[in-house]
Amino acid sequence: MLSKLKMQGEAVVITGGGAGIGKAAAAALCEMGATSVIVGRTESTLLATQAEFRAKGWKCEIFVADVSREEDVGRLSQWVEQSGLEVKAIVNNAGNNFSATLHELPTERWRELMATNLDSVYFMCRDFIPMLLRAKAPSIVNVASTFGVIGNAKMPVYCATKGGVVNLTRQLAIDYGPQGLRVNSVCPGSTLSPRYKGYVDKGLVNMDAVRARIMLARPAECDEIGDVIAFLVSDAASFVTGATMVVDGGQTIH
Ligand SMILES: NC(=O)c1ccc[n+]([C@@H]2O[C@H](COP(=O)([O-])OP(=O)(O)OC[C@H]3O[C@@H](n4cnc5c(N)ncnc54)[C@H](O)[C@@H]3O)[C@@H](O)[C@H]2O)c1
Repeated sequence: MLSKLKMQGEAVVITGGGAGIGKAAAAALCEMGATSVIVGRTESTLLATQAEFRAKGWKCEIFVADVSREEDVGRLSQWVEQSGLEVKAIVNNAGNNFSATLHELPTERWRELMATNLDSVYFMCRDFIPMLLRAKAPSIVNVASTFGVIGNAKMPVYCATKGGVVNLTRQLAIDYGPQGLRVNSVCPGSTLSPRYKGYVDKGLVNMDAVRARIMLARPAECDEIGDVIAFLVSDAASFVTGATMVVDGGQTIH
């Protein structure tokens, strides 16, 4: 089992990997021997993460792109293709959220979050699947949310996009399974990423209510989600495809 978790420098492209859950997944994959290719919008954040990883002796490349933009994903996939890196997997992690009720929601805000959370997964999968089909034991991990399997107050676009990610994952697992490409989604519950901590600091999250609905009575640390993502990428998960891996401390079991 442990040997199946090990990687030999194969590249894993992680969107939104400069911070939060994406960074934790990239760190776990690097520890396992992968080359992480971290994609994000802010070069300074990416450079800081790369320096931190390289100081630990890990292999890490960075690429600046807004994955909600088709042309940026096109530039990224061309760069990876020409880089000589052997791509084993992509982790579609970049995402955002905001609070609103549907009848107050302007079209631009709907489209903006659709682009970040769902169009990005389409662009990434479309551009990388040809490369992945040439790889040995390839996979895709899409980061959805518990709010992709249940609803939540004042999050119409988020719930719609994450539900879309969960079912797009199943659909891709059907089309590409026969060619050996595994596709899975991870649905985190409340996780203490920089974004989530920002909501807590602004008083937008009632921590007592969050703890009350989680059976383990606490939110997750980012590495508790990142480790599950890394497992799904690895050959230890070789018979897992189309799965919706809920990692929520028991939030959605009742
Ligand atoms: N934190 C939680 O409680 C939680 C719960 C469920 C699901 N998730 C999901 O996990 C994923 C990661 O969330 P997080 O909490 O770690 O967020 P985060 O904001 O802390 O980190 C996400 C990273 O993605 C980057 N990013 C955002 N939009 C991007 C874009 N268009 N192009 C490139 N990079 C982009 C951000 O700059 C940031 O570096 C998201 O898809 C989120 O919906 C998070």
